[in-house]
Amino acid sequence: MARQRWNSRWAFVLAAVGSAAGLGNAWRFPYMAYSNGGGAFYIPYFIALFVAGIPLLMAEFGMGQGLQASAPKVMRSAGKGFEMIGWWAVFSGAIITFYYNVIMGWIFNYLIKSTTVAWKNNPSDYFFNSFLKISSGPGEIGALRWAIVIGLAVTWLWIYLILRKGTDSVGKTVAWTVPLPIILLLVLGLRGITLNGAGEGLNYLFSPDFSKLADVKVWAAAFGQIFFSLSLAFGVMITYGSYNSKKSDVANNTVITALGNSATSFLAGIAVFSVLGYMATIQGVGVDKVVSQGIGLAFVVYPKAISLLPGGVFVQAIFGFLFFVMLLTLGIDSAFSLVEAIEASISDKFKVGKKKFLITMSIIGFIFGLLFATQGGLYWLDIIDHFIGNYALLIVGIFESLIFGWIIGAEKLRTYINNVSEIKIGKWFTFFIKYLIPIILIWILTTSAIDEFKK
Ligand code: PHE
Repeated sequence: MARQRWNSRWAFVLAAVGSAAGLGNAWRFPYMAYSNGGGAFYIPYFIALFVAGIPLLMAEFGMGQGLQASAPKVMRSAGKGFEMIGWWAVFSGAIITFYYNVIMGWIFNYLIKSTTVAWKNNPSDYFFNSFLKISSGPGEIGALRWAIVIGLAVTWLWIYLILRKGTDSVGKTVAWTVPLPIILLLVLGLRGITLNGAGEGLNYLFSPDFSKLADVKVWAAAFGQIFFSLSLAFGVMITYGSYNSKKSDVANNTVITALGNSATSFLAGIAVFSVLGYMATIQGVGVDKVVSQGIGLAFVVYPKAISLLPGGVFVQAIFGFLFFVMLLTLGIDSAFSLVEAIEASISDKFKVGKKKFLITMSIIGFIFGLLFATQGGLYWLDIIDHFIGNYALLIVGIFESLIFGWIIGAEKLRTYINNVSEIKIGKWFTFFIKYLIPIILIWILTTSAIDEFKK
């Protein structure tokens, strides 16, 4: 069977930006920037983007497109034994989908709840005690939360419908699920910066603390953020590249995807922090008092800020609804890109029909997801996310750059990229892939592992 193709260059670019821009941009990025030196974080962030993000993204697009194959098959071209690395990447991606889709399930619930501002004045109590009915710890799984189970099922069904017709249905979906959240971020950002106290929030986000640059953790956070955000090391970008024709412009595709992703993070930072500044101002506290990490930011702090917006419940409901539509459409392209990478890897190796695979995968994903839809689910989500984000991803990144750089040959890859691209890539590419990226990643991995054991 002929390999599927993107219908147009835009379908590919939108799908790639869609995979990259996800829940990671909307709240992980603003929080990371804030807690790692504010404005100073942009220095390691951009260094990580240029040193590791762009070269590896280019390498993944180039390898997938050049070999017309998904991650395990690409790795196998370096030698039989390396195929495992590709499967490992895909397997880590599968684990991410299991819990990413549960968060999507929460968002579905919150979309409905936002229409009545159901969390009232205490979103924290509402989220943990009414919505999750959270247990005392990971040891106590408790009962299933049915509203979340339904949200999870709807998410898997949606993914099934989007992927069912391959690049055709994906192309049609990303034509609206990629621009819509960006437009909504602009709307939320505009509302945000016109609020009283918005400047305080933005000051917090952008004012640099250079002393943080001496801390290894800040650099680890920047590299981790770039990897997660650009969907690197899970085989997603290799798969998406493989649906391009062999002549597609790799360098150009890379630059557009990376720019689109960073622009989304930047917009999200403004939309979120302006509102936090407003909230801190009317509560008469510092911005640092209202910021909270990850999940808390989207389901507790932001809803809280919404319930304080001027204009009454109706206006609050509108902005709450827009915020969750934004999250939902931002997240869905990332969620299905992971499933597509698994699908491509399996169908490159075994002869399974697309529909059969998708139905089986959705059922398996749904069942594994149930663990995270219990009262103890949030604890498990945290634990697993931590190990995938801090270790699995970096380990694949190290192997990937070593295999591309030393076995397949970074020079060979560079020649191919230059043959198809308008912008020509210099010798620095080879140096980065062969030496710089593996050295930095190994350094980050070992220092953060040592840190962990010290705790
Ligand atoms: N890049 C996505 C985000 O920022 C997450 C993701 C990671 C998607 C890996 C696919 C693969 O949310």
